[in-house]
Amino acid sequence: MITKKQVEAFGSIETPFYFYDMDLLRQTLDVYKAQIDKYGYNAHYALKANANDRIIETIRNYGLGADCVSGNEVKLAVRSGFDPQKIVYAGVGKSDKEIRAALRAGIFSFNCESVPEIQIINDLATGMGKKARISIRVNPDIDAHTHKYISTGLKENKFGISPWGFQDVAELLAQCAHIEFLGLHFHVGSQITELPVFALLCRRVEELQRWFIEHGIPIRNLNLGGGLGIDYQDPNGDPVAHFAEYFDIIHKNLVVRPGQKVHFEPGRAIVGQCGHLISRVLYVKVGKEKKFAILDAGMNDLIRPALYQAWHDIENLSSTGRKLRYDVVGPVCESSDCWGQKRLISQCRRGDLFAIHSAGAYGQVMAMKYNQRDLAKAVYSDDLK
Ligand code: LLP
Repeated sequence: MITKKQVEAFGSIETPFYFYDMDLLRQTLDVYKAQIDKYGYNAHYALKANANDRIIETIRNYGLGADCVSGNEVKLAVRSGFDPQKIVYAGVGKSDKEIRAALRAGIFSFNCESVPEIQIINDLATGMGKKARISIRVNPDIDAHTHKYISTGLKENKFGISPWGFQDVAELLAQCAHIEFLGLHFHVGSQITELPVFALLCRRVEELQRWFIEHGIPIRNLNLGGGLGIDYQDPNGDPVAHFAEYFDIIHKNLVVRPGQKVHFEPGRAIVGQCGHLISRVLYVKVGKEKKFAILDAGMNDLIRPALYQAWHDIENLSSTGRKLRYDVVGPVCESSDCWGQKRLISQCRRGDLFAIHSAGAYGQVMAMKYNQRDLAKAVYSDDLK
């Protein structure tokens, strides 16, 4: 919840900008940390969700590791002080350069997404006289019931190795002297709000890990990825993701064998609600059938609505007056640059400050300079106190 005092402070800041409520981030991390400690689970924050220095420093201070999907994310994680032993690295297209750099950094695990990738990692590790720790990212063929662009666990998706590839994996592992096999990795999608999906995932994990164990390949680690959704509809009323319910489902449904370690890779659920895109109304355009509120923030600042038809709550921070219906749009020359249609919002005027909520995850980090627009800067609540 953005306070009155914060809105006053926004008055002198150039818009659009990202505002991060660091108290909410810490509150979210308090709840998350208590949950993983309760069950003895390990967590690696998915840097891709938000890689701002101040955000990742806060997360690292809670003892989380880092989940990376590129060589530069691995570099960033190391530079930001994450223990390499807590860095995991996934991605279907790791380049040789990226693999070498991660080997040099001594990361905890490569999450391998294809059989040829395992071979290349072994070859490169051999050349460097190193041993690479790897896990297999498994494609469990599960429908995460989320947007198709952020669904990753179906057999038609490009991610992971499907069960029919397990025999090849087993044969290859037997030949790879420079690979240490840790276990299995899963990530079936993002913004998953139907929690039974995670129960189904746990049951699939058990079926799939059994194959390896029966073939004499021990599984020391199970990494269930990220994916827990947040409440985009009611960010003020429901600001902390439902971690207790999530971990309860995992705990009740996942078979963990003695000595096995369980890992997670949360992204959105940690940072999603602490970020808000703050913008000003440039113009109110009244048409015959509708009213447009034209903001100075556009799809280049936050691409989720244009890319995934994502719904973000929009609030007029400058007025609590009578609510009217507006199509809220941005200035970019694309019709998809639309924040929401027929939104009920307090009557607005030029200069009013708007918040587009739940913008902490996959917001600033996906911003671009399309139309040669400036990149929105970050403002942290700690600096406004
Ligand atoms: N682990 C892996 C291997 C991933 O690919 C992802 C996200 C995560 C963990 C973290 O997932 P989360 O807890 O944040 O759901 N740009 C999209 C989301 C893309 C997610 C990519 N992978 C969006 O704005 O909705």
